[in-house]
Amino acid sequence: MKVHVYERAWLWAAAVMIAGFLGAVVFSAVVHAVQPPSHMETVDPEKIFEHPDFSNPRVESRDDGSTLVVGVAQMFSFSPDPITVKAGKPVTFRLTSTDVIHGFQVVGTNVNATVIPGYVTQQTVTFSKRGEYLVVCNEYCGLAHHIMQAKVVVE
Ligand code: CUA
Repeated sequence: MKVHVYERAWLWAAAVMIAGFLGAVVFSAVVHAVQPPSHMETVDPEKIFEHPDFSNPRVESRDDGSTLVVGVAQMFSFSPDPITVKAGKPVTFRLTSTDVIHGFQVVGTNVNATVIPGYVTQQTVTFSKRGEYLVVCNEYCGLAHHIMQAKVVVE
């Protein structure tokens, strides 16, 4: 069979690219493992409600003016809800899930976390503008995924 030299060249170029992309996926899976981008902290997803911290989802004001939010995502809600925090002060979210992977996106801000059962996802942000922000789950998690939401109130 006669294959035109350009066609042959492009076939090889495509093959090399596919091998490169697959190699990158395998490399990151083997060398870095799969983990949340924040830090590696694990928690037993079946014992969240007995966990010393996550059994009590809450918004906690700290002496330095910052806020700690200990949150739990589960089909199909977030707790606590609403989450009331202060504008201009750092807010640290510590989140986990009891069941499947959920998203925690505070619409209109740069808070966008993946909440994975078995892991603690942590993100610290400072909200500069007061107001009410919608929190949506942006990982498909089941039949009522589209109604899974909460509210962040910045005051
Ligand atoms: Cu939780 Cu989608």
